[in-house]
Order: sequence, then structure tokens, then C-alpha cells
Amino acid sequence: MKTIIITGANTGIGLATATEFIKDGHHVIIACRNVQKAQQAKQHLESFATGKVDIIQLDLNSLENVNQAANSIIENYEKIDVLVNNAGLMTPTLEATEDGYEKQFGVNYLAHFLWTMKLLPLVQKAERGRIIHLASMMHLLGSIKPEIFKADQVKQYNGVRSYGNSKLANLLFSNALAEKLESTQVTSNSLHPGGVDSEIYRELPKYQYKVIKLFLIPPSKPAKLINKIAFDPSWNHRNGDYVSLQTPAMRSAKAKDMQLARNLYEQSLALVQHYL
Ligand SMILES: NC(=O)c1ccc[n+]([C@@H]2O[C@H](COP(=O)([O-])OP(=O)(O)OC[C@H]3O[C@@H](n4cnc5c(N)ncnc54)[C@H](OP(=O)(O)O)[C@@H]3O)[C@@H](O)[C@H]2O)c1
Repeated sequence: MKTIIITGANTGIGLATATEFIKDGHHVIIACRNVQKAQQAKQHLESFATGKVDIIQLDLNSLENVNQAANSIIENYEKIDVLVNNAGLMTPTLEATEDGYEKQFGVNYLAHFLWTMKLLPLVQKAERGRIIHLASMMHLLGSIKPEIFKADQVKQYNGVRSYGNSKLANLLFSNALAEKLESTQVTSNSLHPGGVDSEIYRELPKYQYKVIKLFLIPPSKPAKLINKIAFDPSWNHRNGDYVSLQTPAMRSAKAKDMQLARNLYEQSLALVQHYL
């Protein structure tokens, strides 16, 4: 029985991924901001009568909450075999996290950076630790702009670009971490899960959603890919890889830029150093 932590596992790709792992008899910890929704997900997962489910309350909107949730994991578990950084949001309006970061950058990326850095020692205790980041083909629109990490520094907000920035940051973090983990038993890889029918499109106008829905795939498809990245022997020596469902795995020039990845890693460490 392997121990797997998935952020945002009460719905969408996260829940489908938890379902895959539970069906295989693993111990899955679902890290969700809303405990009531997490309880419903737990009930659903327990209906498969295999594996084990725990809940941890995690609100990626707050670095202090991330710190506390990670500390509670460190106190209560001996190792983590697979860490799936899945939770994410897409928002058309400029908002700030509790710490003042632009919300998509803060929730999708920076909070996961802190989460991962805090939990890395536990992943290193596993026989073959796996860290899997949900990036997106939308990273193609992204760039890294430290001058607008904070919401009050943003002058012209574009929700789609900002989402792309956060997904580029996910991919670059995966690459930087992979480089640091070279010659260890832990790997770091990222994926574009395809256009997936989930609640992420909840803020789209209904008519737009109806059109987009025609092209969306069910969450079970990326869930199977994540399971494969976690446990299939063909992934044993893949580190710093990026794969894609539905579309070719195209990486932007920025996503291939290792110096950009290293710089973002160092900048992010400085932003969260208070908690490390
Ligand atoms: N769906 C797609 O087409 C697509 C394409 C490319 C990449 N992705 C990526 O795949 C990942 C999963 O997306 P999905 O499609 O499954 O979306 P989803 O159905 O909207 O699920 C997102 C999950 O993230 C959680 N979440 C949001 N804000 C959070 C916060 N502040 N703290 C903790 N959890 C938070 C949500 O919790 P609540 O239920 O409480 O809101 C939910 O569990 C995301 O990283 C997304 O960027 C999705």
C-alpha cells in the first residue's frame, strides 16, 4: 500500500485520480480546502471498499495554512510515495491571496511550491518518490514576471494570461526540482491533462461552456495517465519530463529555459523562506 497525497481531490481530475489509486488499494490523503466537500469525496472513495482515505484541510490561498497543513502531515505520516500537485483555479477577475499574491500565481503555483518543499523530506523517505505537477498547454501563453507576483502591482489584468503564467511556473518548478533531484530516487514530472470536463470551467458563460464541452474528455483519462506516471516501470527513469493528453506535448521556449526555471526556484524560495 503506497501513500499518496493529492491536492484538490474533492472533484474533477483530483477526485478521479484518487479513485484510480483507491481502486488499486493505496492509502490516499486528500488535501482539500472545504472539509464538507472532502467528506463527500471520502464517502465516494470509500464506496470502493479498497485502500484507505484520510482528509487534510488545505487552503492554498494562505501560505500560513499551507505551512500548518504540511506540518500536520510531517507529524502524522512517515513517508509519501506520490505527491500530486493538482488543485488549481482559473479566474477572469483580479484577486489577491491572503498574502497579497495574484490569486492564480499564489494558489496554482506559489502555495504548491511551499507545500512541495515542506513535504520533500517525506517524499525522499519513500523507496521511489514521485512528484507530479498538473501544468497545462496554456503555459504556452505564459511568462514569468516577478514585478507582478503581487496583485497590487498588476496594472492590466488578463485572466487567461495570468492562468498561463501560473501553469508555466508549475512546469518550470517541475523542471528545476527534477534537476535538483537528479541521482536520487525521487522524480519530478509534469503534464497537460487535456481539455477535461471539470468544474474549472465554472466561471465561463453557459453558451461558451456548451461549445467547449464538445471537446472535453472525462477526468478518468488524465487520472489513468497520472497513475501511470506514478507507478508504471516505464516512468522509473523519467525525470523533468512533460507529457500531454489530446495534444502534442509542445513546450514553449520559456518552458525549456533551465536558467528561467532556476531563477524562479530561487525567487520562490526567498518568498516562502519564513516557513522553511
Ligand atoms: N480541466 C482542464 O481542462 C484542465 C486543463 C489543463 C490543466 N488543468 C489543471 O488540472 C488541475 C485540476 O483541475 P480540474 O480541471 O480538476 O479543476 P476543478 O474541477 O475546478 O478542481 C480544482 C480543485 O482545486 C481546488 N482548489 C481551488 N482553489 C483551492 C484553494 N485555494 N485551496 C485548495 N484547493 C483549491 C478545488 O477545490 P473546491 O472544490 O473547494 O473549489 C478543486 O478541488 C488544475 O491544476 C488545472 O489547472 C485542467
